[in-house]
Amino acid sequence: MARPKVWLMRNYHDPQIEAYLSEHCEVIVRQSNVTPPHEEIFKMAAECDGFLPEGIDIIDAEVLNNASRLKIIADRSVGTDNVDIPVATRNGVLLTNTPGILQDACADMTFALLLSFARQVTRSDRDIRAGKWTVFDQTPWLGLDTYNKTLGIFGFGGIGQKVAKRAAGFDMRVIYYSRTRRPEAEAELGAEWAGDMETLLRESDYLCLHCPLTDETRGVIGEAEFALMKPSGVLVNMARGAVVQQQALYEALEANVIAGAAIDVCDPEPMLIDDPLLTLDNLVITPHIGSASAATFTAMGMMAARSIVAALTGEPVKNMVNPEAMANW
Ligand code: DGY
Repeated sequence: MARPKVWLMRNYHDPQIEAYLSEHCEVIVRQSNVTPPHEEIFKMAAECDGFLPEGIDIIDAEVLNNASRLKIIADRSVGTDNVDIPVATRNGVLLTNTPGILQDACADMTFALLLSFARQVTRSDRDIRAGKWTVFDQTPWLGLDTYNKTLGIFGFGGIGQKVAKRAAGFDMRVIYYSRTRRPEAEAELGAEWAGDMETLLRESDYLCLHCPLTDETRGVIGEAEFALMKPSGVLVNMARGAVVQQQALYEALEANVIAGAAIDVCDPEPMLIDDPLLTLDNLVITPHIGSASAATFTAMGMMAARSIVAALTGEPVKNMVNPEAMANW
């Protein structure tokens, strides 16, 4: 019997992932580290049984309507905004993701970004390399404190809660606003329910975004929201670039409506080198590496590979986003 065909959509995965998939499937490794073009994804959807993409690879209705053979997309990400889920479900394409294994890595990165801005780590590093450290004078790099400040969290799932846990160690007050109120987590982590978005924006010294990208959250932070934040406020975006209106972010930073931003995500990604945001000293930016500790990177890949093998060999599949799709196989 022909073995199921799986498309590993990048060439940079840990070899154990290809080896594991190869035990059960025919594996096609795309020999590139770049997002495949739409026409290639379209073509492969008719030729493969499984895809292992990154969470930024767009798998839209057009691709899914050509997915005559495709049974499973196993995103190597927790975010699944890259896939048109209703169409996938209708066409019998199961989607899985990688929850539960990246919260700590992402929460660490949230604090890395927050502190990088607050204590001027990246800017002072840049200045030293540019020859600007010529005298003992701390004043160009005076930073912001974290202790006794309010950390606001928008999106209080696994990552948001791990951030709250770390914030307690920094002696911060934590408030949050989310689709769902979580009284148990409030009690456990000492976090307060903000009640509404406006209160979250007004009271946060650091506003950290950890929500999924959905129709409700797309562009949710724009000019009006920046105007509600404190002038000393700092935005940390660990969610998705499109949650923030990027032009409004530029204007808010440029006019010092808020003190600064530290972002791991942007729209588009990668950020274009002539993006005006890159001219601003009150921005810290990293290349969407929130989950990217070496161990977590591989664990996410293995989790996705396991989902593919389970789905294609008839074993129970974990981390299903649209289990209803299986009824349409
Ligand atoms: C995720 O897991 O969603 C990360 O942002 C990587 O895409």
